[in-house]
Formats: sequence, C-alpha cells, structure tokens
Amino acid sequence: MTELFTAHTLAARLSPRAVRYLPQTGSTNDDARAWLRARPPAGSVVIADEQTGGRGRLGRAWRTPAGAALAVSIILRPGVESLHQVGMIGALAVVSAARRAGLEDVGIKWPNDVLVNGRKAAGVLPEAEWNGDHPLGVVLGIGVNIRVDFSGTELESTAISLETAAGHSLNRLDILADLLQAVDDWSARVDVFDAWKSRLRTLGQTVTVTNLRGVAEAVDEQGALWLRTANGELHRIIAGDIALGR
Ligand code: BTN
Repeated sequence: MTELFTAHTLAARLSPRAVRYLPQTGSTNDDARAWLRARPPAGSVVIADEQTGGRGRLGRAWRTPAGAALAVSIILRPGVESLHQVGMIGALAVVSAARRAGLEDVGIKWPNDVLVNGRKAAGVLPEAEWNGDHPLGVVLGIGVNIRVDFSGTELESTAISLETAAGHSLNRLDILADLLQAVDDWSARVDVFDAWKSRLRTLGQTVTVTNLRGVAEAVDEQGALWLRTANGELHRIIAGDIALGR
C-alpha cells in the first residue's frame, strides 16, 4: 500500500522540529544543503516521499519510489572535532529505529550501511557544507527501505526492505519519528565510536574493498578501516565498499 505523508501529519508528529516536506524532489540532501545556508536550527529536517535524483555514496544513484521508503536529510551542527562521527550517528540511529520496529538481526556494514538479515536496508550520506574553511554544518542524509520492491532488479539479492524482514506492514511515520529521536539521542552521547564499532559486522573477516583483499583488522576513531593484506601490509582505507571474501 502506498501511504504518503502530508505536511500537516509530519508537523503534528514531529513538532517542534522545523520540517520541510516535499511530495517529490530531486535529492533531499541538495534541498537541505541549500536550506543550511539560511542557518535553520540544528535538527531541522527535509523529508520527501519520492526522490527523482537521490544520491548514494561514491557517486551512485539511490532509489526512493513514492511512499515506499524514508528519504530524510537532517541538519546538524557538530563541532569540527566530531564531523567524522555524523555518518556513524546516522547508522546507529537507523539500527535503533529498526530494533524499535521489532527487527532483531540488525548490524552495520562498514562504513555506514545498515544490514537487516544480512542485506542492506538503509544507507547514510553525510555531507558537510563549508564557508571557506569554516563548517556551516552537516546534512545527514538517510535512506531507509520500508517497502521498496527489489525483485527483478540488480539489488534483488543484496537489498531488503524492513517490511519484508518483519513479515508484516510497518508504519512509516512511526519509524521516521523514532529515527529522528535516535539521531538526537546519539548526537548527545559520548560513546558513538564504541557503539558504532560494536555493531560493525565485518571486523575480523576476509573482505575485498575496492581492489584490495585482506582481513578487516580494525577501525579507528575517524571511521577508517584497517585492512591487512596477505603480504602482511596494513592499509588504512577511508572510503570504499566492502564485499565479503572474493
Ligand atoms: C548509500 O549509498 O548507502 C547512501 C544512501 C543515502 C540516501 C539518502 S536518501 C535521503 C538523502 N538524499 C539523497 O539524495 N541521499 C540521501
């Protein structure tokens, strides 16, 4: 069933947070980055029912069919020393919201993909906005598959929607409210790195990242992955995609 938000429903549920609702947009991250320049309060959020140019990490496209997912971009103003934790906060918040929705097998695949039953259910795209060398803030973009149908697509074996994992329908507004609350909660905590690390599914396993194969030995506080290749070399990787084995 396609259930769409309305500006009224969102304002009523998410008050006093500043909310911009768009039935359809290109990318909520682009909208939030433009809004950020007008200095809205931290926690302000752009929500769309459908994205026509949704963006993922590493220049990829991100699919958001109308009413089938959550596409949200939250404006945050962390200190420069915590900028690297924004993606971790996004992933941890999705884990919290998914668990509140009753899902049990929920974890994080480095760097910030959220896996449910071993498949990707959500992705996170933090983007900082700068005025010269002064950070104006960060847009934390989060996409959650609630009832996206991946059958017949190239993502069929690697992606999942929360409703498929739950085996019953879920309330998109409840998950959105839980997600935003969890972003607030995690933003106030001092154990973000430890919590993120403890939920990572890939440490200790043999993985391939881009063209490098090795054991995912550690992560550091900046969120980088340390990979030990067969010749004993240790590589620090700051961005990429993990594939198990290969
Ligand atoms: C990933 O590649 O895993 C990150 C996906 C991030 C998608 C979200 S949906 C809301 C926000 N707007 C975008 O264009 N991207 C992010």
